[in-house]
Amino acid sequence: MARTDALTSDFLIIGAGLAGLYAALQAARYGSVCLLTKTSISETNSAWAQGGIAAAVDENDSPQLHREDTLRAGRGLCDERAVDVLVREGPECIKELERLGVAFDRTPSGYELGREGGHSRRRIVHAGGSSTGQRIVARLSALVLQNLNITLIEHAVVTELLTVEGCCVGARFLCDGREQLVRARTTILATGGAAALYHRTTNPPGTTGEGIALAYRAGAELADLEFIQFHPTALALPTARSFLISEAVRGEGAHLLNPDGERFMLKYDGRAELAPRDVIARAIFEEMRRFKTDHVFLSLRHLDPALVRSRFANIYETCLQYGLDLTRDLIPVAPAAHYTIGGVRTDLWAETTVPNLFAVGEVSCTGVHGANRLASNALLECLVFARRAVEAAVRHKVASASGQEVDGVRACSPANSQPSELSRVRQLMTQYVGLVRDRAGLEYALAELSRLEIASSGLLREQALVARLIAQSALFRAETRGVHIRSDFPNEDPSWQAHIIVQKDRPMRLEKQLQTESP
Ligand code: SIN
Repeated sequence: MARTDALTSDFLIIGAGLAGLYAALQAARYGSVCLLTKTSISETNSAWAQGGIAAAVDENDSPQLHREDTLRAGRGLCDERAVDVLVREGPECIKELERLGVAFDRTPSGYELGREGGHSRRRIVHAGGSSTGQRIVARLSALVLQNLNITLIEHAVVTELLTVEGCCVGARFLCDGREQLVRARTTILATGGAAALYHRTTNPPGTTGEGIALAYRAGAELADLEFIQFHPTALALPTARSFLISEAVRGEGAHLLNPDGERFMLKYDGRAELAPRDVIARAIFEEMRRFKTDHVFLSLRHLDPALVRSRFANIYETCLQYGLDLTRDLIPVAPAAHYTIGGVRTDLWAETTVPNLFAVGEVSCTGVHGANRLASNALLECLVFARRAVEAAVRHKVASASGQEVDGVRACSPANSQPSELSRVRQLMTQYVGLVRDRAGLEYALAELSRLEIASSGLLREQALVARLIAQSALFRAETRGVHIRSDFPNEDPSWQAHIIVQKDRPMRLEKQLQTESP
């Protein structure tokens, strides 16, 4: 690789999951794109997504119904303007993915639509059964690699966003242990969430929230960090990672059973296994507490085995590797950290409060998810807001940069993997900032995480910072709402129907609305 200290590109995109890849392909129509990823292009959380993409594409559905379901799940904290954008522009993004060569599963009469919790209609578009993320990421990665306007740099660890007079002008990154710069008129953060700050997570181990730390240090506002969504049904075996068992299996009729074999969800919510995720996770927690156990069971034994094997092929195969037959055995499951609802605050065009810095996908907080994300709205948000980010960048400033342009595909050597001290962060987050929190635990975690942050350097310091901000936001919110459950404040409190905003060198504050303009 040629040794260059300063690179220049029209667009700099940090992160190569669905949001980053899609933004890169959109941006490449208008100029040069430098795409940095801290791993390789094939390792991304999006590729682990199973369920699919929620979009009102069926004639019995409408953006209005999708909107209502999203708002209902969000427990009063969704930003209605952002939700309008999401549900209206979603179907067009599905069509665009198809134009790009993504083959969604179909029946002779149209899309084969899945159903998931909180949705009043079948509206989940999927590909390869339960391999949706993998299929889409594979197709978009191939297009990115062929695109002469896109330079991909793998194993590039971004250490700082560069700002001049408060505006973002690019980033500094480490490649083969050497520092390099990319200058860009538009920088798009697409670095994903922070669920791997917990021991039990459905995410790849690198999903540790550094993009949130980068934006924070650059002065951007963050919002809603306390809302970490726990997926109710991750595989719970001592010998297995907490592999996601898609909500789509409940959509097809799977039951949740407690150790007595009782179908317990009926006690908690009339929608039973199709209640929104926060309701299910809380009910599972309650049953585990009651039975003093660390899991409950999913049962698909009453479903057609042929359907189970074909519709959920990768889940079926993975469970078999652990000696569990999805069509015959009870599957032990428990909640696991899954999705970071909060993140870098953006406007309706994905721009953060730092000019020229955009945030898309899980690193962002557009307000569409409120206090509880509706299943399969995440990939949709990646698409809709990545497209908007590029449109806004082009409209505002016709991105153009002078100087040396980057070209080709480059790979730095992989950086050292996670430092072992990360396990202390994970232990604190899991024990004290998990599905159910209280004041004493949060205060303890906050003190420990602050100490760790001060004592550490590099990546670990950034991870401790993000964990500390999550704990601090969770302590601040003195109520239970959506995915944030406080045992010492067990009820939703109307005076807390507001967003917690975090910004460097400023006290935490509450704001009623994230978005102030109309779409
Ligand atoms: C799932 O398949 O259950 C996960 C989908 C999502 O997180 O939206």
